[in-house]
Amino acid sequence: MQVPFLDLKAHHEPIREELEAAVREVMESAAFAGGPFVARFEQDCAAFCGSAYAIGVGNGTDALWLTLLALGIGAGDEVITVPMTFMATAEAISFCGARPVFVDIDEQTYELDANLLEKAITPRTKAIIPVHLFGQTADMDPIFEMARRHGLRVIEDACQAHGAEYKGRKAGSMGIGGCFSFYPGKNLGALGEAGAVVTHDEELKNKLHILRDHGQVKKYHHALVGWNARMDGIQGALLRVKLKHLAAWNEARRANARLYAQQLAGVEELILPAEAVYGRHVYHVYAVRVRNRDPILRAMANRGIACGIHYPIPLHLQEAYRFLGYQKGSFPVAERCADEFLSLPMYPELAPEQIGMVARELKGLLCASEDA
Ligand SMILES: Cc1ncc(COP(=O)(O)O)c(C=O)c1O
Repeated sequence: MQVPFLDLKAHHEPIREELEAAVREVMESAAFAGGPFVARFEQDCAAFCGSAYAIGVGNGTDALWLTLLALGIGAGDEVITVPMTFMATAEAISFCGARPVFVDIDEQTYELDANLLEKAITPRTKAIIPVHLFGQTADMDPIFEMARRHGLRVIEDACQAHGAEYKGRKAGSMGIGGCFSFYPGKNLGALGEAGAVVTHDEELKNKLHILRDHGQVKKYHHALVGWNARMDGIQGALLRVKLKHLAAWNEARRANARLYAQQLAGVEELILPAEAVYGRHVYHVYAVRVRNRDPILRAMANRGIACGIHYPIPLHLQEAYRFLGYQKGSFPVAERCADEFLSLPMYPELAPEQIGMVARELKGLLCASEDA
């Protein structure tokens, strides 16, 4: 038996006919760039998140970058985020001309540690981007409290947290803008690239509509210098089909996480992911922590089990961000996690026997390394 990290073929097979019909419909109407299929998906996406509006864009990086631009964040400004995230979070900050400022993550939830925020705030700070890492939201109330005290915007990076909840509210719906990626492997993935911003703010929605389409207010009338960040019609139509299944897929991920937790319970060498009391985790990534991770990752691969690392190098230690002046030791929790995180296979279609095999092999390897 092989256990892939992700199985998109198995994911799409049960809804293949619905997906093919959606593609045919777009081909027949030829609404390929933006247009009515994207608009219909936007309506459903906003409703799903409990937000007033959704604005479809090209990918999650666009969603973050255009939101920052639309809020007027630029050169000379600072935006606070975490070093334990995908590069895109910080890239979006850099690409609007601002400077990323990192704060460490919490050792239990792996989300932004709000206790560390105050120290990172300067007169140049304009916004905070908590990242809902792995499918669990950050603890938002203390973040909002700090933002209110200092007059800062809160933009959610919800790229890994489609359908996750914080105190009953959906990820993405709490900040001024909630940014989603629909990269194929996400809990809600396109069959290509796509992203969206959800918001309650009409002004932000209007600005994003203009920015994503070359700054146009009507054809060939450019009110702003914008960009081409439209969502494809085909992706809008496919995402609308897939959104109907998202709640069930998230349930399946949660059931898989429970199975892993049962089968790996009591293994001293492992730290399992913990669901915070404040929310509902949707397990985009099931990351355990283990010392001496790299040989275990290789040994799992030799046994036909594909694991991953999210992420092996925190952003403050990336070459691209050397100029920010951080060092090893600047963010000890993120650094420890980068050394120890091991992402186990996780997707809705993962079978209980596959989970059993992953757990068995992992435990076997940990016992063997202890004996050695
Ligand atoms: C936390 C986070 N932020 C941003 C992004 C960027 O999204 P995209 O790849 O759609 O541009 C991703 C996607 O991988 C992500 O995981």
